[in-house]
Amino acid sequence: SGIPFRQKNIILIGFMGAGKTTIGQLLAQKLGREFLDADHEIEALHGMPVTEIFRTMGEPAFRQMEKEYLTTLCRSEREKVVSLGGGSFMQEEIRESCLSSGIVYHLDLSWEAWLGRFEALIDTRPILQSKSLAEVEEMFASRKLVYADNHHTIDVDARTPEQIAEEMAQQIQA
Ligand code: S3P
Repeated sequence: SGIPFRQKNIILIGFMGAGKTTIGQLLAQKLGREFLDADHEIEALHGMPVTEIFRTMGEPAFRQMEKEYLTTLCRSEREKVVSLGGGSFMQEEIRESCLSSGIVYHLDLSWEAWLGRFEALIDTRPILQSKSLAEVEEMFASRKLVYADNHHTIDVDARTPEQIAEEMAQQIQA
């Protein structure tokens, strides 16, 4: 699209627990940009935690909120660092608006590394609560194929969020 490179939003995608929020905050600080966490913004807009939205209104309602929030953001915001929820990119409309107006970074985690983070996620991720581990692994693999539609893939297995954010900042500012 016609948006100058320096004004494009930097958009972080990847599976739950990949570090999108932590790395996004650090990256925004380093670049002197404002940071937006999509789930957090949706919670503020609707006055409810994501777990409550899922519980009281269901997943389709949440997906609709995500689509409205993110397609609007892609049209109206510039120069932000934005972390998406792990399911956002599964919606074609979101994917297309992010890829055409922003620079999309996939924070890529191996299944083995993810297993080490699983316990810390379960309470706040309704999408994990109804699934067996085998089903989560299947979702992990199928989503990875969709996340592959990005501008940059960053391996987040072996380094700290600080190291990853620093490397990204240097690449972006080069
Ligand atoms: C979801 C991921 C969550 C949140 C919601 C659904 C998903 O975000 O949007 O619980 O479908 O993967 P994080 O990726 O920040 O955990």
